[in-house]
Amino acid sequence: MTSLIATPAWKALEAHAGTVAGLHMRDLFAADPGRFGAFSISLPGIFLDYAKNRVTADTMALLMDLARQAGVEEWRQRMFSGQAVNSTEGRPALHVALRNRSGRPVMVGGIDVMPLVCGVLARMRDFTGALSSGAWMGATGKAVSDVVSIGIGGSHLGPEMVCEALTPYRKSGPGIHFVANVDGADIAQALAGLDPATTLFIVSSKTFTTPETLANAATARAWLTDALGEGAVARHFVAVTANPGAAAGFGIEAANTFETWDWVGGRYSLWSAIGLPIALAVGMDAFEELLDGAHAMDEHFREAPLEANMPVVMALLGVWNSGFLGAGSHAVLPYDHHLRGLPAYLQQADMESSGKSTTRGGRRVDYQTGPVLFGAPGTPGQHSFFQLLHQGTRLVPADFIAAAESSAPMGGHHRMLLANFFAQTEALMKGRTEEEARAGLEAAGLPPEDLESLLPHKVFEGNRPTNSILVGRFDPRTMGMLIALYEHKIFVQGVIWDINSFDQWGVELGKELAAAILPELEGEGPVSGHDCSTNGLINFYKTLKGRAP
Ligand code: F6P
Repeated sequence: MTSLIATPAWKALEAHAGTVAGLHMRDLFAADPGRFGAFSISLPGIFLDYAKNRVTADTMALLMDLARQAGVEEWRQRMFSGQAVNSTEGRPALHVALRNRSGRPVMVGGIDVMPLVCGVLARMRDFTGALSSGAWMGATGKAVSDVVSIGIGGSHLGPEMVCEALTPYRKSGPGIHFVANVDGADIAQALAGLDPATTLFIVSSKTFTTPETLANAATARAWLTDALGEGAVARHFVAVTANPGAAAGFGIEAANTFETWDWVGGRYSLWSAIGLPIALAVGMDAFEELLDGAHAMDEHFREAPLEANMPVVMALLGVWNSGFLGAGSHAVLPYDHHLRGLPAYLQQADMESSGKSTTRGGRRVDYQTGPVLFGAPGTPGQHSFFQLLHQGTRLVPADFIAAAESSAPMGGHHRMLLANFFAQTEALMKGRTEEEARAGLEAAGLPPEDLESLLPHKVFEGNRPTNSILVGRFDPRTMGMLIALYEHKIFVQGVIWDINSFDQWGVELGKELAAAILPELEGEGPVSGHDCSTNGLINFYKTLKGRAP
């Protein structure tokens, strides 16, 4: 099969990129006062301004050709209709079914899965109601005061990020804690101060085979049973899994097990019962508003023409920035304290989905795929790594994300936050020319020799691409829209790069090697079966532990 970069649409973009290379966004804005209107998309609840990208109308038209050539519309249809778009695992990727509020059936293998999805949502409603009302009691008859969610990756990052993001919508009810790391410090910290008689554990693991999660669950179980005996497990443990047999083997009853399915990818699963901590934190009504928001974005993604399709446009800009402008990274910058977990969440969503170098057909790609995603909330990021965004040698495209309304109005804080939000994208776009820098230094009264030496440092090239995403407020609905926006962006990029966004074989090798090394750490004597660096490190560790190799 022809490589992406040998296709007509890619070649046309390559030729076009030469003409755009010399353009500065300052000039594009100066030439077209309507640029904001032309390069923005407004949906009820969420707004995207992408005018501050190094694109012209021709660039966008050529990118749309690329999307059509790659079959984005056909792939979109395949995903929504439950075809096995996760080709290496032979499965659909139907996170859209989890928030399908349309009443339309979603078929998997000839069966409508919507009754299953709705059934689990109903069970979640009963469970969250029972827990918050105190009707669910622990083994000693006390109500639950704290819930500890144990899971890792997709079974952790989404729930924790959304719980944090929706802090202003927090209902009174049990405290919610998260444990992901196999480092014992994580669970030790979570359990410190908790009372086994009033603590409930949610073990979230799609596979129920993930070693970190099983180790933490076993430690939690021991902590509980040491205090309350084996019989307490039934009242203090629930599971969320697609492997109920393994949960039963751990001692969690079927009645306390919430089902998820193999057609839901881990990093796309917060909409399922994996989102139980979210439902506990904000209530089931708000959880369903989150689903409504995601569904609204799904409908937009399904129906809007590519040119006016927010996830498609964001995906194409990402392809443009990496494929034609050489960007190797992408920053996500939420100007909202409660969204501080968004970059970490998107790191898994994006990098586990797009960190691939093999095409669907099994060929090594000869172009760049997913960028390194990173980020931090504004304004702390501005006082940290933004220097590189403004004046570094690398091009780092960035998404700036903010809400018009603050969830915590405190004097003029929100205006100040937003002033920074608007100023940063303006600065990254405009930069500061030598003339402007000179005028500034002259106005400051700098002596000529100091002025000349300082001048080069005061110049900003600008021309750095950014997207601005603005919502009214970060409520459950807009959070649903925002997350679904990124999910579909990732999917579209995967289609264009001809990679499977829904597998993650790259995480396996390290897991296998860790399993082999674990017994070696316990064994006597030096190890010799690895490369000399790994042998040396393990043997030095043994020395440090007081065991001579
Ligand atoms: O690290 C790989 C991974 O499989 C992720 O994709 C997944 O989200 C995570 O592990 C946790 O998996 P599970 O939910 O099966 O415990």
